[in-house]
Amino acid sequence: MLTGKKILIGITGSIAAYKIILLVRLLVKQGAEVRLILTPAARDFVSPLTLSTLSKNPVISDLFNESSWSNHVMLGRWADVLLVAPLSCNTLAKMANGHCDNMLLATYLSATCPVCVAPAMDEDMWHHPTTKLNLDKLSSFGNKVIPVEKGELASGLFGDGRMAEPETIIQFIIDNFFLTRDLEGKKALVTAGPTFEPIDPVRFIGNHSSGKMGAALCEELAKRGASVDLVMGPSPIQFDSPNINVRRVQTAEEMYNQCVQLFPTADVTIMSAAVADYTPIKKAEEKIKKVEDQFSIELTKTKDILKSLGEKKHNGQLLVGFALETRNEREYALQKLTKKNADLIVLNSLNDEGAGFGYDTNKITIFEKNGTELSYERKPKQQVARDIVDRIVKMLYA
Ligand code: CTP
Repeated sequence: MLTGKKILIGITGSIAAYKIILLVRLLVKQGAEVRLILTPAARDFVSPLTLSTLSKNPVISDLFNESSWSNHVMLGRWADVLLVAPLSCNTLAKMANGHCDNMLLATYLSATCPVCVAPAMDEDMWHHPTTKLNLDKLSSFGNKVIPVEKGELASGLFGDGRMAEPETIIQFIIDNFFLTRDLEGKKALVTAGPTFEPIDPVRFIGNHSSGKMGAALCEELAKRGASVDLVMGPSPIQFDSPNINVRRVQTAEEMYNQCVQLFPTADVTIMSAAVADYTPIKKAEEKIKKVEDQFSIELTKTKDILKSLGEKKHNGQLLVGFALETRNEREYALQKLTKKNADLIVLNSLNDEGAGFGYDTNKITIFEKNGTELSYERKPKQQVARDIVDRIVKMLYA
């Protein structure tokens, strides 16, 4: 998504400048072309040598040096986006009031590309009315403000004002400037979360699924223009996108019924729920009392939703399943691809650190029905969702 994108970063004098080193590395890794401007105060916090080595471009900090003039106008025209990060109170005030006493400010004033800023300051400065006024001014110029985070601050205090993490900044840039609405007009159906199979009025058979992966997929599909129906098992996750229509269910049977109803009009269906494979044959009407020394519950198989939809699939519909395995991962994933008539299976192994239930990250391998096999490194679930949707889009329009 960032391949070939030109990102100009202005660094100002703030302790958070150290995070820009990682930001540059991540951007370059994702194929972006990065150039950097340092304000004089920023040089006390990060070294131009580190930044020029990582970005593979000279770092600019002066409007003039002994023999030449740096062309701020062309820099602002070169960039697809100008990001000022970290944005200090001082540079914020200067940007809001049209000051032009360094290279970054001259570039800002002449930039024709979109601008976003990632403020970083102590909590009291963050909450000062002048800061709010200046940020409102920047917003009124059309500049985008990346929200600050709550956490430990340079002063040692805890509160609002921390600069967003590099991964969050990248996500913000993609969402605001580089998102292609390649699923505009498409309908998607997603399942997520666990299912709870009742034993009696107080007990159930469930699993550790958090629903985070499915939620990230819904957000990504919606951002790219799809209208999403989400059938979600018990999970506290809430959604505020108007393009995500959530139907809450408890059991595998309820999830099946909703999916069968919604599937005929879905262009893309992703089954990321951890559906119970077995459910109690009988649900006790009253709470089961602790009487017997040994106690067993008779279970029966639930309907396999993915397999049923695979049998109903018609031309042009794309069906994606997940496989969560603890051994013979590749073999089982490939079996699921054919047995369930899916177009794509996303494998995550519980043997991989940071993958699976509850984590904010995942590590996946994608198996496509044309034989393509793609392994990805461990990433935040939002980025994993993007990788999966990229493959879906590719297959959909192939
Ligand atoms: N799935 C489903 N309905 C079920 C069970 C699973 O739709 N009753 C879907 C899951 O949402 C997932 C895929 O099937 O997309 C694979 O689920 P998984 O639990 O890994 O495999 P199972 O088919 O249940 O087989 P096994 O438990 O033997 O691995």
